[in-house]
Amino acid sequence: MDSTTNSIRQIAVGFLGMGNIGAGVWRLIGEMQDEIASREGVEFAVKKVLVRDLLKRRGAAVPKELLTTNADDVLNDPGIALVVEALGGEQPAAEYIRRALIAGKSVVTANKLALATHWKELLETAHETGSCLYFEPGVCGAIPVIRTVTDSLQANRIERLYGIINGTTNYILSQMSAKDASYADALFDAQQLGLAEPDPTADVEGGDAACKLSILSTLAFRAHVPLEGLFRRGITTITPIDVSYGRELGYAIKLLAVAKRDGNKVQARVHPTFVPLSHPLASVNGSLNAVYLYGHACGELMLYGRGAGDAPTASAVVSDMLAAARTDCSNASAAYRMTGAVEMDTDWESRYFIRLQAVDQPGVLGAIAGILGRHGVSIASMRQTTGEGRAPLLFVTHMAREKDVRAALGEIDESLATIENVIYVEEGL
Ligand code: HSE
Repeated sequence: MDSTTNSIRQIAVGFLGMGNIGAGVWRLIGEMQDEIASREGVEFAVKKVLVRDLLKRRGAAVPKELLTTNADDVLNDPGIALVVEALGGEQPAAEYIRRALIAGKSVVTANKLALATHWKELLETAHETGSCLYFEPGVCGAIPVIRTVTDSLQANRIERLYGIINGTTNYILSQMSAKDASYADALFDAQQLGLAEPDPTADVEGGDAACKLSILSTLAFRAHVPLEGLFRRGITTITPIDVSYGRELGYAIKLLAVAKRDGNKVQARVHPTFVPLSHPLASVNGSLNAVYLYGHACGELMLYGRGAGDAPTASAVVSDMLAAARTDCSNASAAYRMTGAVEMDTDWESRYFIRLQAVDQPGVLGAIAGILGRHGVSIASMRQTTGEGRAPLLFVTHMAREKDVRAALGEIDESLATIENVIYVEEGL
């Protein structure tokens, strides 16, 4: 509920969660309040803050009378017009977002997991209730990629997008490339810097990037690309040997999110990928994020910046809070309207880097090449060095179908070679 004082509109806000992101938002609102009031004519007045532990030290000086451990104090308070959800995790966050929307509140969330997992339900609730649902901070932090796709590229058919949309894995792979570090050492380094969680699974196995890709490609293609339809593979099996072979071949290694639409078929995948060193995405290093896309009218477009961290994420949260304050919410969900259903395509074409340890005996190379050939997998380049008993062997293929490559690799048994790693090569970016 708004009240107007000297032409400054006061927006009553409830926070769900006051961890790092919530505290970042609290601090940014405090720091920018005079400028926001004079430029936007809006003042955010926080009425309640849901926390798990009333006594915990936090990164923001929240008066203790605002704190509550009861979500109903935020969700059932008719005076609260805007809810900032910063709890993280799928539940109870998704249910709280749904309840807030049903109660007619605007919601800003940084929670890609809750959103990607409950996309249809939450978007339909926003649409039916005429409540605003904003989630820019959930996809690449400070980078305004959601608004770019929904509010700036509406006149485009977007058919391809590529993203480095997880900063933790980009930092780890950048360290492995720059310092020939092992995966374990680079992960440890990321954890020491607070970039990687003590349990890094969601980042390093590609789950975080998959949630972001599901949301981003859904909006770009205007058709739901469900999280469960995404292929994902993490970075835990990448070794310094792969990274250095890739570099010799002219590639940088990235955990790349790829989404392509061809008619009503969509492929969406997150996996370690060799990207040509000459491509702008190859220069996105450290914990930075970038999204590179093609629209039929705008051509290629790349957004680059900070995808995580308290202040960058708060930048996007406060921007969404202002958007909610400005908007006639009854039509806000129109930006997310879908145009039709699509089918997930799991038999995409790619080039492949295949690294093996082959038995060093006559005929082995010919036998492996023969298996690939019989499955229609054509070799673009090949390299063999000598090892002890086994010969390190690597192939880069021409464009080949995923199912053919899998079938061929399934036929290469221990009598010929052990398969050390298979990495996608994305040339046609
Ligand atoms: N953990 C994420 C990353 C940030 O490393 O990019 C939040 O999605």
